[in-house]
Amino acid sequence: MAKLASGRVTEKSSELLDRFNASLLFDKKLYAEDIEGSMAHATMLAKQGILTQEELSQIQEGLQKVKEEIETDRFTFEIADEDIHMAIEKRLTEIIGDTGKKLHTARSRNDQVALDFRLYVQKNTLKIKHELLKLESVLLRIAEEHTETMLPGMTHLQHAQPINFAYHMLAYMSMFKRDIERLQSAYERNNFSPIGCAALAGTPYGIDREATASALGFDAPTVNCLDTVSDRDFALDILYNIATILTHISRLSEELILWSSSEFGFIALSDSYSTSSSIMPQKKNPDVPELLRGKTGRVYGNLIALLTVLKGLPLAYNKDMQEDKEGVFDSVETALLSVEILTAALDTMTVNKEAMEKACRVGHLSATDLADYLVQKCGMPFRDAYKITGAIVVEAQKIGVDLSEMPYEILKAMAPCIGEDVKGYLDLRHSMNARTSQGGTATEATLKQISYFREWLAEAIR
Ligand code: ARG
Repeated sequence: MAKLASGRVTEKSSELLDRFNASLLFDKKLYAEDIEGSMAHATMLAKQGILTQEELSQIQEGLQKVKEEIETDRFTFEIADEDIHMAIEKRLTEIIGDTGKKLHTARSRNDQVALDFRLYVQKNTLKIKHELLKLESVLLRIAEEHTETMLPGMTHLQHAQPINFAYHMLAYMSMFKRDIERLQSAYERNNFSPIGCAALAGTPYGIDREATASALGFDAPTVNCLDTVSDRDFALDILYNIATILTHISRLSEELILWSSSEFGFIALSDSYSTSSSIMPQKKNPDVPELLRGKTGRVYGNLIALLTVLKGLPLAYNKDMQEDKEGVFDSVETALLSVEILTAALDTMTVNKEAMEKACRVGHLSATDLADYLVQKCGMPFRDAYKITGAIVVEAQKIGVDLSEMPYEILKAMAPCIGEDVKGYLDLRHSMNARTSQGGTATEATLKQISYFREWLAEAIR
């Protein structure tokens, strides 16, 4: 059914326009925020004497009924209503009569949509943060179990130096901790109420924006209404935050994919989080981390899309801005599901310590330690020590042993200052545990990092 003529527009709209113009099919997701906002607005109007108590009660009961209808699938969404704001107001007026028409006093859909959308973003900012905290608990648990588990640390995806698996997990904990902090700071930065800004210029009614702000859980009303009705920075914030979270998730996913390959065999994802091939019966595929890696693309897209929509918009509200919602909904849902499934996949994976340690014996991981030995014990300048170690590695390669198992006589022949104690330096676990500097990989240093994260998490979860 086409929309009836209203206001300045005197002819019935075309159905094509209705379909093109409507946001109802997606912004109905904001029904709860819309009703919450309307309740607060009406309460404030009554307190200010703009509505009577009787009118307020009618509006409150009516809105409650509308909510129930939506939640029990008895509400008819009609595209001609354009958006969730109009749809709810229309139904309210059908239920309670003319008083319903008073709800829109001293507000506009411009501040209304800014409010609803902000409430949605604020709520979901905290939800994503909550999911990330659960992920952090699992990462911490894995770290606590693996402070002695050695694996090859890599640069350029080439074996570099032995590190412990806890240390590796704590690197991801660090990334997600920053994500959590970014969400928290975005929450604080955006916790201001748009309602009462009306169309763009404020309103002549004696409203109390402080009252609506505090009823809705905001710290205060926004300061400048012209900005407020056209500001979607809060949406950009959550999109950027999600893009960064997914960047981190995709990096970890990539490692999970590599580690679960036959070439690495460092971990096995549990069967309940793996899939099989429709043709190759032997296969067990890491679809979860692959999809997580893939979903990163769509959340980047959502961020770029909104930046592009907002670019060059004159003040204040422009209909372009209706394009702000779908990408945010999509990113939020993607983030919540992604963090949840990553947490579950990590929580149920098995770690193959033997494979990790075996891999450390490939690639001469203690070469830096030999160079350090030559500096410390033989007093060589580092560059010379580096050169001689390089030659020794070439020799090890030639005779087909790892540097950690290189016969002492050969070492001695190549660098006469080397003593019997070199064996200790070439030992891979020694190499790992020598890195005791703050933030380093030695078990001793890792344990300190674990305490740091444990304390932080206990505090953050409270
Ligand atoms: N559906 C609109 C949106 O999402 C609501 C605001 C409409 N405001 C207006 N002046 N047409 O942006």
